[in-house]
Amino acid sequence: MSELEREDLELEAALRPRDLSEFVGQQRVVDQLSLVIAAAKKDNRSADHILLAGPPGLGKTTLAMIVAAESERTLKLSSGPAIQSAGDLASILSALEPSDVLFIDEIHRLSRSAEEMLYLAMEDFRVDVMVGKGPGASSISLDIAPFTLVGATTRSGMLPNPLRDRFGFTAFLEYYEPADLEQVIQTSSRKLGVDIEGDALSELAKRSRGTPRIANRLLRRTRDFASVGEHGVISRDVVIQAMELFGVDQAGLDRVDNQLLRLLATKFNSKPVGLSTLAVALGEEPDTIEAVLEPYLIRVGFIQRTPRGREITPDGIAHIQP
Ligand SMILES: Nc1ncnc2c1ncn2[C@@H]1O[C@H](COP(=O)(O)OP(=O)(O)OP(=O)(O)O)[C@@H](O)[C@H]1O
Ligand SMILES: [Mg+2]
Repeated sequence: MSELEREDLELEAALRPRDLSEFVGQQRVVDQLSLVIAAAKKDNRSADHILLAGPPGLGKTTLAMIVAAESERTLKLSSGPAIQSAGDLASILSALEPSDVLFIDEIHRLSRSAEEMLYLAMEDFRVDVMVGKGPGASSISLDIAPFTLVGATTRSGMLPNPLRDRFGFTAFLEYYEPADLEQVIQTSSRKLGVDIEGDALSELAKRSRGTPRIANRLLRRTRDFASVGEHGVISRDVVIQAMELFGVDQAGLDRVDNQLLRLLATKFNSKPVGLSTLAVALGEEPDTIEAVLEPYLIRVGFIQRTPRGREITPDGIAHIQP
C-alpha cells in the first residue's frame, strides 16, 4: 500500500459518520434501518439480518458500524475473502456473544462450504461441524449465540438465492445526488479545518461520481494543492486547478475512464465489445471494469450494455471530443 493510499484510509476512518443523524442522504435506507433497529430494541432481541448492497464507497461499511452503534451491540468484522473455509467461519460464529453484530464484507466471495454453514447459522443459530476424518467422521451440531448478520456486497447479483432469502432486509444504496455530496464535503471540510467556498463545494461534488468516498478524496487532494500553493480559502478556481493536476475531468472521469471511452470510440469503432476483449485492450481485470469503472459510465449515459457487449453512446463520444 502506498503512503497516499494509507493516508486516504486514515482520512476515511476519521471522516466516517458515527450515527444515523450524521449519515447524509440515502433517506429511504436510513428510515428503513431506523425502523429495523428500533423494532429489535423494543423487543430486546437481535435485529433481523441485514444485507447492504451497492457500488463501492457509498457507505456500506459505515452503515454496518452505525447499525451496531445504534443498537448498542458489539461489532465483529470479517470478510468473504478472509473466510477461507467452513472451519474459519465456524470459529468466528462460535466466538460470537449473544446479540453481537457480525459484519461480513464482500459476502458474495464466501466459499460454497462457508456459505452453506452460514444458512443454518442465520436461520437456527446453529453450526454443524465435522469431527474426525475419513469413514469415522461425523457431524455434530453446536448452538451459537443469536446474532445479527450484516452482509455487504458490491455484487448483489452474484449472491445465491438461498443466501439472499435469509436476510430479513436488503438495503440498496444509490449513488448520491450532488446536493448530498456538497453536504458530505462541507462536513468533512469542517472536520478537517478547511476553508472552502460554496461554489468550490459544488465544483467538487459534480466531480465526485455520486460517491462520498471519492468526494472526501477529492477534497483531500484539493486541500493539499491549496496548502502547497498557499491559497488559503479554497475557491472554485483552486478546485479546477487541483482537478486538472490530478487528472479528474468535469464529469469526474479519470484517465482510465477516458481511455476506456476512447478505446470504444476508436479501436472498436463505437461498436459493441465483449467485456473480456475490452479488459485486455484496457489492461484491466474484467471484474474491475464491471464493478468499478462501468457502473458510473453507464449511469452518466456514456456507455451502454447491449446483448452484444459494451458500446459507447453519442454522449460518451461527445465527452471525449476536444
Ligand atoms: N452517507 C454518508 N455520509 C457521509 N459520509 C459518507 C457516507 N457514506 C460514506 N461516507 C464516507 O465515505 C467513506 C466510504 O464509505 P464506506 O467505507 O462505508 O463505503 P463502502 O460502501 O463500504 O465501500 P466498499 O464497497 O468499497 O467497501 C466513509 O469513510 C465515509 O467517510
Ligand atoms: Mg466497505
